[in-house]
This record gives sequence, structure tokens and C-alpha cells, in this order.
Amino acid sequence: MSDDQAILGVYLSETLDLHALYGDALSKAAGEVVLVRPEDVTDPAEVRFAICWQAGPDAFAPYANLGLAMSIGAGVDDLMAHPGLGPDIAIARVRDPHQAALMAGYAAHEVLHVSRGFGQMAASAAEHRWEPIPMRAPEETTIAVLGNGTMGQAVTRALGALGFTLRVACRTAPSEPLPSVSYHIGETGPKEAAEGADFLINILPLTPATDGILNAALFSKMARGSWLIQIGRGENLDEADLVSALNEGQLAGATLDVFRQEPLPQDHPFWQDARLRITPHIASDSVPAVVAQQVVETARQLRDGMPLSMGVDRKRGY
Ligand code: GLV
Repeated sequence: MSDDQAILGVYLSETLDLHALYGDALSKAAGEVVLVRPEDVTDPAEVRFAICWQAGPDAFAPYANLGLAMSIGAGVDDLMAHPGLGPDIAIARVRDPHQAALMAGYAAHEVLHVSRGFGQMAASAAEHRWEPIPMRAPEETTIAVLGNGTMGQAVTRALGALGFTLRVACRTAPSEPLPSVSYHIGETGPKEAAEGADFLINILPLTPATDGILNAALFSKMARGSWLIQIGRGENLDEADLVSALNEGQLAGATLDVFRQEPLPQDHPFWQDARLRITPHIASDSVPAVVAQQVVETARQLRDGMPLSMGVDRKRGY
């Protein structure tokens, strides 16, 4: 096949205007990879791939020759669970180092905010009170990180550079372990890593094995008065167990960026809970130029019948 043979894709999202977000970057990235909005498709049979973020329940139905659904983000749980994507349709995702750096910044911000008492000092400052908060050496603070993918590694490296003591729970042994980090591998990894930890940072993808993994049994392993940072997927968290752990003082608080229901409903009790720091799923984002380059590369691989370098393992779930 010649390099300039066109391949047609469609933007599919119920919540984002993907054309507005990525149209410019994609048109700059490659002329022969063409992406259009569903309403601009003239012959649905010509559509070979879709780029997606929260595609609607019937979004894929018109496209009989679809070979690939690609997420513009890191998570593919919604695509994995989508009834419109049969096993013959490949799933891919973006792997963006900038997105990982943003994630690392968010996690480091939260660890520093909580461990250095910036919230209390802001309250003191508002009342013109000069009240330093006692500090402890970062190495005396233990952080458990659940997940060792692109994002997990970036978080671990950033916090390691700040001097914290780090434990990482991962499914398989890391190919490039960091010398000062202890790795806890396999099913027992999360509980081992959480043992006595002052912070637990969750960056796991959503799979049947990680649904509800942030639960009472895990919280009970952590140090009393510790803190959860939840930047994986909302479904990783058992919300009732979190509230119990907060009420019992096992957890002092939590930073939550992802939720079982997004947007978090206006009447959700989490909004009123002063022990929670809530952000609207903004811990990180992928950069349009990187998304464009990876979409183009993946579309070309699909067109040319090559293995998809950004493809996900459907069995593993990420
Ligand atoms: C964000 O949640 C992503 O999946 O990239």
C-alpha cells in the first residue's frame, strides 16, 4: 500500500468536542489520515477507525468496517466495556509522556500540600496568625503507589526526587526498577505496599481485578491518619469504605480527582466533606500534538496491516 493512501476515521464522544480539541493538530500531522465528525461522514462503510472519549451507546453502530477504536486518553475501560465493540475491533490508547508529567505534578502537589500543612497555614494566614507547621524529613514519609505504567513511573520518579520513601505495587516485575524503590508484585502487592504507608496514590487502570480495590481491607493496612490520593478510575474506590475510614480516623482525608459518576452529582455528599479535596478529573490531560502523532501512527499501522504499537491487550484490560 502506498504511504499516501487515505484512511478515514471518525470522532466519537458524548462529552467532548474532539474535532475542536484535536482537529488542528491532526490536520497538521498527516494529510492522508482524515478525521471527520459523524455528521460529516458520507459513506459510513468507509470509516476504518474512531478516536474516542466516552462514546455513546450506539456510537459505533453505523460503521460496519471499523477496525480500531482509539482512546484520546490513557484509560480504555469505557472502550473495553462498550457493547458496540466486538472482539475483532482493536483498541488502542495514547501514551503521552507529557500527560505522565502532569500526573506526577498533581500527585506531588497533593503530597506536599498535605504533608507540609499548607491548608492549615492558609487558614492561619487568613486570620493573620503566624503559625509554622512542624516538618519531618521526606524520607520519614512512606508513599505507596498502586500502578507502574507510564503514569505510575512518572509519579514514583517525581516523589523519589523529592526524597520520599516509595513502595510500588505492580502486576509484574518492573523492567527498569528504580534503585531506591521497593516493588511489591502480584495480587498481594497493594496490601504489602500499603502497610504502614502515610499516603496511598492510586493510578491503576480499571479492570475486573481493580474494581473496588480501594476498600476497607486496604485502608486498614495504612498508617493511622494517612491520606488517599485517587487519580486512577472512580470505580477503583469503594466510596462507603472511604467514608467509614474517614469517620474512624483511619484516613485523615483524601484527594479525589475521579469518581464513579462524573460529573460528580451536585447533591453528592462528598462535596460537603471538608476532609476531601475534590478536583474535576483534571489530574492530567494528553497534549493535542502527541495525540495527533499517535493517532496518525496507529491509523497508518491499521491501514498497512501492521501490529498496533499503541494497541492494548484486551485480555489484560489495559
Ligand atoms: C484520563 O483519565 C485518561 O484516561 O487519560
